[in-house]
Amino acid sequence: MEEEKVSFLKYQYALKMLETEIDILLEEFVHRHGYNPVEHVKSRLKSEESIKNKLKEKNLDYNEKNILVGAPDVVGLRIVVSFINDVYDIVNMIQNSHNIIIKQKQDYITNPKQSGYTSYHLNVLVPIYLENHVEYVEAEIQIRTIAMDFWASIDHKIRYKFPDEIPPDISKALESYAKDIKQLDNKMYELNKIMNSYHENI
Ligand code: GTP
Ligand code: MG
Repeated sequence: MEEEKVSFLKYQYALKMLETEIDILLEEFVHRHGYNPVEHVKSRLKSEESIKNKLKEKNLDYNEKNILVGAPDVVGLRIVVSFINDVYDIVNMIQNSHNIIIKQKQDYITNPKQSGYTSYHLNVLVPIYLENHVEYVEAEIQIRTIAMDFWASIDHKIRYKFPDEIPPDISKALESYAKDIKQLDNKMYELNKIMNSYHENI
């Protein structure tokens, strides 16, 4: 089948809208709570080549309709926070936004992926205001702690080196380190609670 020409403009607009909305929500959060939970925010548009590869893996032709089905993460934003409880505060914050519509929530912290991957995913719809109508574009927001981000980043690098299949000893090690990460996140959470109690007593 002949390849369809796909316009990336609406994805670019949606990314800008999402970045701005998240920026303002986070600033408001700091203003209201007097505390900044964010380590960093990263956003990106998936490249045309990655979209094509992803659709190919799913046996889908490259066109706008199939991108909706097979690549809902063309527009992506990741919020990396300090503590595990911050993840849920940020999820609530986004859920309360009047501009972003939540399409799907996936709590891979409570239910990790088979690989050991943990994160909270929100698939959302972002409005873009065109000349005479409003369109909603899907985006994927990932929210995770720095510890989870550390694991995911190394895991990603390893997967890249073994595109077919990761050797079982390596995947077992990764699964086990994911458990270590979870324990460490829980310990840091407890430590932060203790630290906060010192502040309350000052
Ligand atoms: P997609 O077809 O990619 O959407 O997969 P999915 O629907 O099974 O997973 P989901 O949408 O929940 O997550 C997709 C994104 O999560 C990926 O693009 C990665 O950024 C991240 N992710 C999911 N699993 C893993 C994993 O095992 N390791 C790492 N490093 N990242 C993962
Ligand atoms: Mg998905």
